Amino acid sequence: AKVKKYRFDIQVKNVSRLCQAKPIVTVNGKFPGPAIYAREGDRVLINVTNHAQYNMSIHWHGLKQYRNGWADGPAYVTQCPVQTGQSYTYDFNVTGQRGTLWWHAHIFWLRATVYGAIVIRPKQGTPYPFPQPKFEFNLVLGEWWNDDVEEIVKQGNKLGLPPKLSDVHTINGKPGPLFPCSEKHTYAIEVEQGKTYLLRIVNAALNDELFFAIAGHNMTVVEIDAVYTKPFLTDAILISSGQTTNVLVRTNQIPGRYFMAARPFMDTPLSIDNKTATAILQYKNIPSTIIPTVPQLPALNDTVFALNYNSKLRSLNSPNFPANVPIKVNRRLFYTIGLGINPCPTCQNGTTLTASLNNITFVMPKIGLLQAHYFSIKGVFATDFPDWPLTVFNYTGAPLTANLRTNQSKLPRLSKIAFNSTVELILQDTNLLLVESHPFHLHGYNFFVVGTGIGNFDPKKDPARFNLVDPPERNTVGVPTGGWTAIRFRADNPGVWFMHCHLELHTGWGLKMAFVVENGPHPDHSLLPPPKDLPQC
Ligand code: C2O
Repeated sequence: AKVKKYRFDIQVKNVSRLCQAKPIVTVNGKFPGPAIYAREGDRVLINVTNHAQYNMSIHWHGLKQYRNGWADGPAYVTQCPVQTGQSYTYDFNVTGQRGTLWWHAHIFWLRATVYGAIVIRPKQGTPYPFPQPKFEFNLVLGEWWNDDVEEIVKQGNKLGLPPKLSDVHTINGKPGPLFPCSEKHTYAIEVEQGKTYLLRIVNAALNDELFFAIAGHNMTVVEIDAVYTKPFLTDAILISSGQTTNVLVRTNQIPGRYFMAARPFMDTPLSIDNKTATAILQYKNIPSTIIPTVPQLPALNDTVFALNYNSKLRSLNSPNFPANVPIKVNRRLFYTIGLGINPCPTCQNGTTLTASLNNITFVMPKIGLLQAHYFSIKGVFATDFPDWPLTVFNYTGAPLTANLRTNQSKLPRLSKIAFNSTVELILQDTNLLLVESHPFHLHGYNFFVVGTGIGNFDPKKDPARFNLVDPPERNTVGVPTGGWTAIRFRADNPGVWFMHCHLELHTGWGLKMAFVVENGPHPDHSLLPPPKDLPQC
């Protein structure tokens, strides 16, 4: 195992897209930011120095950070932000994981421009459990706003309305040649005919689930969220905000130029899709004057494709990579996902949009929850987050008003989990206000997606159909609109771990909570002490 060192200088830089330049927050002046490369077993040190006039904090999305929440990164959850002029070194081991993950700013909406890929290769001499690719490429999908994102959010908050949608989607920061002033900067990969390539695809978009396809080429899905899957062939993938997907592409077509494209999946066509991002897959020695072929992507509201695609995702569950699904459950949780309207004296209309889990709109603390937990600082958070919703109603059939009001408490309310207990969590959508899936992300863990369905979860019938053999294991899962998803995990990682909808819009409205996982009996099962340079609030 090696020690890999990186330096992240947070700095503002002018970047131009769609014929307009604007200052954006970057890492090392790059957009998207640099990729991190490591091998399973390596120790990674990333020194973040903040030269910008924004508070910063960086999350290593999907890395388990065993006993080491200090390196997880969500602002006010595991650390105070790195303030202007300060430095903090994220110091972590990459243990028991290999595959594609990613990193992003975890404070306000700064991840709009502060993000990049994390590539964890298997241990030296360990091959992939699939045909060895000739070469690998990272494709990080994102969103771009012409205006200043923080300003847009402030404006939305003032009005109590959703902020403006992004102007375009991007692949590796670029919209592609179908947009004005974008042709020169198109991202292209060059391939040879008759070879196999590995594409590491990340959805770094703030507010969208995305479809991705390549004209003329099928893809074989081999890994999701840094967990190997049973390979399957598909002509398009669905990837929620926060998720990663590795696919193999066989270059078995007539040499030419082919578009790779990403466009949103929304359960109802709320907006016209005019934002499809493209990049180019280009065979060697093909002149770049040839116009690329456009792929067929599922329609904006293609829920049938989405359900079908998700049902094909299975853990590899091989002798080398067994799926250890918890069979016996120690703790059962049932959380309703609500979007509602609350009074807001400071908002222009007197109301604001809010979101809740079990009718609770999460409030952020003033200092890091993990510090408060480690040092037993009183009055920072409560641990009375309810295991069940406060009111039981027809979650997907009740009138809109049934779930409009949410409760905002003074302190953040967390749920306390005993060390090593097996947890089952049903996430039940009640979302009748805006019809969208919710990509739920749990920090510090992977979980198994043992079941999902449309309508209300039925505790009598549905558990009998759970997949406890080879369910997909991941860190982010799309809870379908008007439906539910069941996940299971073993709480073997002590600390404070954030769980939230990965649509930044919904996180901002309060669709989040955190678990306090207690220390185990053995000293090797307790949270490590904080590093010396941990930022203070
Ligand atoms: Cu990728 Cu808490 O986020």
